[in-house]
Amino acid sequence: MLNKNVQDILNAQVEKEGFSSNLYLAMASWAETEGYSGISQWLYSQAEEEHMHMLKLLHYINDSGGNAVIPAFKKPPVSYADVKKMFEQVYAHEQHITSSINEIVAVTIAEKDYTTNHWIQWYVNEQIEEEKNARTILDKLKLLGKESLYIFDRDIITLRVADSPVKTNAT
Ligand SMILES: [Fe+2]
Ligand SMILES: [Fe+2]
Repeated sequence: MLNKNVQDILNAQVEKEGFSSNLYLAMASWAETEGYSGISQWLYSQAEEEHMHMLKLLHYINDSGGNAVIPAFKKPPVSYADVKKMFEQVYAHEQHITSSINEIVAVTIAEKDYTTNHWIQWYVNEQIEEEKNARTILDKLKLLGKESLYIFDRDIITLRVADSPVKTNAT
């Protein structure tokens, strides 16, 4: 049977992951209407991932003898100032999610729920990826501000493959 405090904080995380999904869906929809097809594609996929994070929690709660609760979700913003500010929001949001996952870890230790402590490590690792991805995008956007170095940054490695096949470990 799932400890009450552990169940409560896991259910709170169900809401956070569901809100993350809706937030990225709102960003995807905005980006799509602004003509950013690649960015919106990235965000739609991200929204699906967050939905999966929510489902994973929900199933864990129920499989552990608890009751997963589907909450009401806050409405995410409809429009965004610009792409860079939007991704700054993504990064800040992921940092917020990381601290909420860390809170779950703390509660599992306080309640001596070592099963959930072990299980939640997947999210601990996932957050390293999530923050890294957001930071990488922000780095690229910084380059874009400087004479479209973004395109150069994206393409430079393909130039190397074309010019020096010997150095690319091509078989
Ligand atoms: Fe997530
Ligand atoms: Fe995330």
